[in-house]
Amino acid sequence: MQSANATINGKEPDVIHQIPEDLFYLHHPKPVRHEILESKTPLDSKALENIDISPDLHRQPVTWSDKIAFYTVRILRIPTDWFFKKKYIHRAVMLETVAAVPGMVGATIRHLRSLRKLQHDGGWIDHLLHEAENERMHLMTWMRISQPNWWERSLITLVQGGFYNMFFMLYLISPRTAHRVVGYLEEEAIVSYNSFLKEIDNGNIENSKNVPDIAIDYWNLDKNTATLRDVVLAVRADEATHRDTNHHFADRILVGHEDLREDIKRAFEDHDKTKKMAGLTNEAPEKWKWSK
Ligand SMILES: [Fe+2]
Ligand SMILES: [Fe+2]
Repeated sequence: MQSANATINGKEPDVIHQIPEDLFYLHHPKPVRHEILESKTPLDSKALENIDISPDLHRQPVTWSDKIAFYTVRILRIPTDWFFKKKYIHRAVMLETVAAVPGMVGATIRHLRSLRKLQHDGGWIDHLLHEAENERMHLMTWMRISQPNWWERSLITLVQGGFYNMFFMLYLISPRTAHRVVGYLEEEAIVSYNSFLKEIDNGNIENSKNVPDIAIDYWNLDKNTATLRDVVLAVRADEATHRDTNHHFADRILVGHEDLREDIKRAFEDHDKTKKMAGLTNEAPEKWKWSK
């Protein structure tokens, strides 16, 4: 291995010139919510509260695949509740290390399939990678707020080793169940962030104004007023997007309509996105629809 002071032909290499220019820019992934992307002004608490996320939305499990996904997530919640109790920030760190895995696994498997079958991926890979990056930004934010101890770091490594491999196998066997699992994990994430908000509102967790720069940049928060509560609201809004996307992906596999391109094209052509996207779910039986 070359040391930092290595020479080439007796001269010090001009290392900086060897770095491609675009690596000099700081890259953050784009946020996932259109409210954040489109806002011309920084978002304050009121703007974040006004993001419509339907925090109580629950997808009723109907098929066997749904039920396996639903009860698996419910069972996984028991040791998590027992371990973290009301340590919501520590819980968020653990949650996000797990939450950032499925998008990357799904994208990897679909990428390989696209290469193998010489077929377009239907527009999924980009969404799945975007989800994984968004979850990683959640983790980067919580890491700056709470430093996990050695025991929690060991647990994260252990859980990642198990979860990555199990989720990879599940995605190979049944991508529909895998996306449904993520949909339910996201529902549980919203429940956890709801409780986190409640603890802040009740004064049990300090609503610190010490918000990391990465969070202010990423969610375009108002740096003069941003608090811990704003970060929780922003993260919770992202989780709602993942919940809706993953349940939608599971539904699309169920109805055998996986190519996103046609619908996206139609939605943009007609300028009536909601109606067109709802038109797709009309193909599914009534029982597959969302329930409150
Ligand atoms: Fe997250
Ligand atoms: Fe999420």
